[in-house]
Amino acid sequence: MLEKIKELTENINQYQIDSKEQLEQFRLEYISKKGKISELFENFKEISGEQKKLIGQELNKLKQFAQEKFEAFSTELSKKEVLIKEDIDYTLPPPPAMLGSRHPLTVVREKIIYVFERMGFNLSDGPEIEDDWHNFTALNFPHNHPAREMQDTFFIEKNPDITLRTHTSSVQIRVMENSTPPIRTLSPGRVYRNEAISARAHCVFHQIEGLYVDKSVSFADLKNTLYVFAKEMFGKDTKIRLRPSYFPFTEPSAEMDVSCLICKGKGCNVCKYSGWVEIGGAGMVDPNVLENCNINSEQYTGYAFGMGIERITMLIYGIKDLRLFTENDVRFLRQFKAIE
Ligand code: DAH
Repeated sequence: MLEKIKELTENINQYQIDSKEQLEQFRLEYISKKGKISELFENFKEISGEQKKLIGQELNKLKQFAQEKFEAFSTELSKKEVLIKEDIDYTLPPPPAMLGSRHPLTVVREKIIYVFERMGFNLSDGPEIEDDWHNFTALNFPHNHPAREMQDTFFIEKNPDITLRTHTSSVQIRVMENSTPPIRTLSPGRVYRNEAISARAHCVFHQIEGLYVDKSVSFADLKNTLYVFAKEMFGKDTKIRLRPSYFPFTEPSAEMDVSCLICKGKGCNVCKYSGWVEIGGAGMVDPNVLENCNINSEQYTGYAFGMGIERITMLIYGIKDLRLFTENDVRFLRQFKAIE
């Protein structure tokens, strides 16, 4: 019996464990009720005589030893597990921080603002929910005039006096009403039209409006400002073209084209083989509009222009579908960086 105890003590002493499975194996072999030590206790019952006391003591020692060993093994194992979990190399450089990128419309809007700010324009803002006066009437759209139908307007239900603004020209009125010339201001913002959504049209889009009112502002000033803008924005070889047009709030009015960036004016499918792409409208502020805002039209003249930010962005980046701007697909959005 003593031999057997010695042998088991020896075995336990040499026991190594590396895993939970091995720990369980150890428990079954030595600690459990069906294990080797319990078996010895069974046998011990049959022993009698002088040796009983000694064997009993040794057997208890063995039991205690096995128990201590088991506990030591389990703490060792849990320490190892923590170490594995915390296996961090603090000297490694961190993974690169994923910075968001700016929306292409923001990138382009900021560049447009930058160009005009250097020509002395400040920024102004107006509400997207507008009244008829600022969106139409003050801009020389008479009531029931067919020109109102040029802009498919969203009206607030049951109150045709309130609209979602159809253009940023409404901000011109607000600025002129609230300040005195000289005025040189730029108004970027969101506008709404009741249009079916497609690759080329959307019911929500962005415009940027420019207004300059002072003594003896001329059409030549307008033309030169737009020319300088086009070169700064699209590159120094860019040309502009102004075509006669009609807007109720300007007289004379023009549609503004730039030479096609894609084919450099040679003709491609972006410019529909004309060599020119329309980016907005412009003209001399109609004297009626100045008067509507209490500006003396005998004393002051002004020019105004309005451009589509989506249109310009599509041109710069060769984007073919307007819907991409609002779909929020990060694979699309990640591609844009600020324009130098
Ligand atoms: N508001 C016009 C539109 O939405 C664009 C426009 C044309 C603005 C001529 C102007 C302008 O300031 O002078 O189609």
